Amino acid sequence: MIINDANLVISAVSKKQYPNDGLPEIAFVGRSNVGKSSLINTILDRKNLAHTSGQPGKTQTLNFYRLDKKLFFVDVPGYGFAKVSKKKREEFGQMVEEYLSSRPLLKGVVSLIDARHQPTADDKLMYDWLNYYQIPLIVVATKADKIARGKFNAAESEIKKFLKFKSENDFLFFSAVEKTGVDELWQWILQKADLK
Ligand code: GTP
Ligand code: MG
Repeated sequence: MIINDANLVISAVSKKQYPNDGLPEIAFVGRSNVGKSSLINTILDRKNLAHTSGQPGKTQTLNFYRLDKKLFFVDVPGYGFAKVSKKKREEFGQMVEEYLSSRPLLKGVVSLIDARHQPTADDKLMYDWLNYYQIPLIVVATKADKIARGKFNAAESEIKKFLKFKSENDFLFFSAVEKTGVDELWQWILQKADLK
């Protein structure tokens, strides 16, 4: 999928700031530092549209990127970053929940989990929560370049077992470094956003 025009339209902290173009939205969630912003840049073939960093907690607002007047990508602040104050974490939590639970234009959520490790308790909470709200979701196991191909099956089983993965959800390996999974993820996004 080639996107000609990709712009950050708004960094929102509350509902009244969400865009009102009526375009479908796909959100990207996951713990802090898992690679959400990197994944967005990779699938859009942009170097630093979504700001990335080795420092967890980089993305602190709901960042809406408009793509060719077709859809929005929403880069959501990461969860589970201990160094952010409790008050800030609660504020983030409310902001994220408000968006994910009450946005009819939200057509799907890409839920990133580190391919190298067992999911965290927060990953499981997010997974259950998204299923509770019946939001179509794909679990994307990222940083797949850091594990050997021969270990993909075991890593997938481990993640699915921990999450008590439901057959109606989707799963994919991804790497921003090796660009693994880019086409498959686009297929999923376009289908959920009803663009094909
Ligand atoms: P927050 O905004 O803090 O929630 O983080 P984020 O989820 O947006 O993570 P970000 O994209 O900023 O990436 C965090 C770090 O992981 C950076 O140092 C990236 O270079 C690295 N990273 C992201 N994706 C990959 C990947 O697929 N493979 C490898 N090896 N490193 C990655
Ligand atoms: Mg980020």
